Amino acid sequence: MSRPASSARQQELDDFLAASRERLDSHLDEALPAATQHPAELHQAMRYAVFPGGKRVRPALAFGAAIAARADPELAMPVAGAVELVHACSLALDDLPSQDDNPVRRGQPAVHIAFDHSTAVLAGSALLVEAFAQCMRLSDPTAATAVGARLTSAIGSGGLIGGQVDDLAFNPAETRLEDVEFIHLRKTAALFSFSVWGGGVSAGLSGEQLGRLDTFGRAYGLAFQIVDDLLDEDLDECSILHVFTREQARGHVRELLHKAVHEVEAFGPGDWVLAGMAQRLEGMIP
Ligand code: IPE
Ligand code: MG
Repeated sequence: MSRPASSARQQELDDFLAASRERLDSHLDEALPAATQHPAELHQAMRYAVFPGGKRVRPALAFGAAIAARADPELAMPVAGAVELVHACSLALDDLPSQDDNPVRRGQPAVHIAFDHSTAVLAGSALLVEAFAQCMRLSDPTAATAVGARLTSAIGSGGLIGGQVDDLAFNPAETRLEDVEFIHLRKTAALFSFSVWGGGVSAGLSGEQLGRLDTFGRAYGLAFQIVDDLLDEDLDECSILHVFTREQARGHVRELLHKAVHEVEAFGPGDWVLAGMAQRLEGMIP
């Protein structure tokens, strides 16, 4: 890829990701209602879905976009918070018996197991509402409106929810690459491109530069989902492995990530977080 990954660079990225995670977690801890506040069970379930959390990749991409714009990553905090809340909602709802029926998430009982079905649905819905409250925290009203509108389309029937509908109806017997990618782009990549693009908007970028971030996010998001397909080997769900051999899928991920890195090279050395995260994902291809 564009630059050799020295161990100093790797350490710098590790430190950045750890600091991002810590700042995001304390931001969300403040933003979410206390677990003791009425209705306590709902608030406990919301917090259970968010903490201790997973890798926090999507927020890191929002911060990385602000870094690319040479801005304070703190400006991207509302976007980072919004995207992680939507992600937590989508996992809680995705795990329900009527959806993917996963009793375990991140090594712990899924929200509907730790609480109950009804609480999981309501906690997921409340997290989604909190995500839009995050967008309204952007200090520039034009940016807040643009980010809110973009989040609406990333999640809605043309985005994550539409992708989930097609995933549930997925028929492996009649599948082409375009069908798999159409699902992956909406179900996974839409939220990733929202993060990167939204990070750029928060940092005051416009026009061509936002287009580059958007393209990076889509390519990175698609690559992320294909890496997940390679790790999962779950052929009940929509997976690239219905249309590609493992070797073809690996090649496709590399191509997507090279394209992603190329898109952000225009930002010069400021691209180090985004390019570094893409290089890291390439290193995780199983
Ligand atoms: C899991 O996303 C769902 C996919 C899109 C593959 P993550 O891998 O980001 O999940 P956490 O947040 O780290 O657990
Ligand atoms: Mg699923």
